[in-house]
Amino acid sequence: MKERLEQIKAEAIRQINESEALDKLNDVRVSFLGKKGELTAVLKGMKDVAPEDRPKVGQLVNEARAEIERVLDEAKSNMEKKLREARMKAEVIDVTLPAQKNRVGHRHPNTIALEEVERIFIGMGYEVVEGPEVEKDYYNFEALNIPADHPAKDEQDTFYINSDILLRTQTSGVQVHEMERGKLPIRMIAPGRVFRADEVDATHSPSFHQIEGLVIDKNITFADLKGTLAEFAKELFGEETKVKFRPHHFPFTEPSAEMDVSCFKCGGSGCRFCKGEGWIEILGCGMVHPKVLKMCNIDPEEYTGFAFGVGLERIALLKYEIDDMRLLYENDIRFLKQF
Ligand code: DAH
Repeated sequence: MKERLEQIKAEAIRQINESEALDKLNDVRVSFLGKKGELTAVLKGMKDVAPEDRPKVGQLVNEARAEIERVLDEAKSNMEKKLREARMKAEVIDVTLPAQKNRVGHRHPNTIALEEVERIFIGMGYEVVEGPEVEKDYYNFEALNIPADHPAKDEQDTFYINSDILLRTQTSGVQVHEMERGKLPIRMIAPGRVFRADEVDATHSPSFHQIEGLVIDKNITFADLKGTLAEFAKELFGEETKVKFRPHHFPFTEPSAEMDVSCFKCGGSGCRFCKGEGWIEILGCGMVHPKVLKMCNIDPEEYTGFAFGVGLERIALLKYEIDDMRLLYENDIRFLKQF
């Protein structure tokens, strides 16, 4: 019996020494020490051993098991150490290499301008709302009192999905959505992307952004419009900024106007920036047309309101003195990181 145990031990150690991988070692452990392993088989054969010899044999088996376990553990930790060393060698870190600079992104000039506009209007108690970019003809044109034969509805100017659905050409449709919700009074701005079938050049893009504004309440007059937009211009372009309203025509407002701001470069005396005018056109606005109110189930005898629409890119270009709109879309890091 003792011999048999010695043999088992020797064979186990031989196999351990031959093992080249951790899973091989585990195979050896199973085949010698496992439930169906060779040492266990010896213990199971104990019934054939004379009762007085059993303690002695038991002890020998335990010694053999302990020895095999010790050699196994040693082999395992040697093997792990070697693997670790190999791994460390493979991934040497050269601490003398220059560190890689962490490039942190920052906001796009459009976003900076938008957040500035939002800040100003939120400060005056306005809500910021959103509307759909894919829009029904009804919201983009019809409900805004734009007649079916209006030139803006031409396929040359508007991207149509089908005869009824299009990519919105203006954020003004959000006015209609808001009024239809039926919650009055309204004091909102609605920034968002708009689309027009334009060729790309320094001042045009098939996709750009507008910020729509709408106020509906009792007793709202053109004086409210003027006061609000004059305040907006001052906050955006500086305390000295003056505003000027020129009569204009929009189908959804009556009366309508375009607002100019005094040139914030020359203060109004005329310079290259304002092309010698002293004034810079900034937005369209007007008193919401009674027809539009009616179509949105608001009684024009009881409620009035004003609306305005401003181009976001126009503000970004003016504020940061960028002379080509394309720069805003090219996403050239060297350009963008200046703002
Ligand atoms: N939607 C107009 C445009 O795209 C801008 C505009 C003008 C919006 C007057 C308004 C407004 O709300 O009252 O040119």
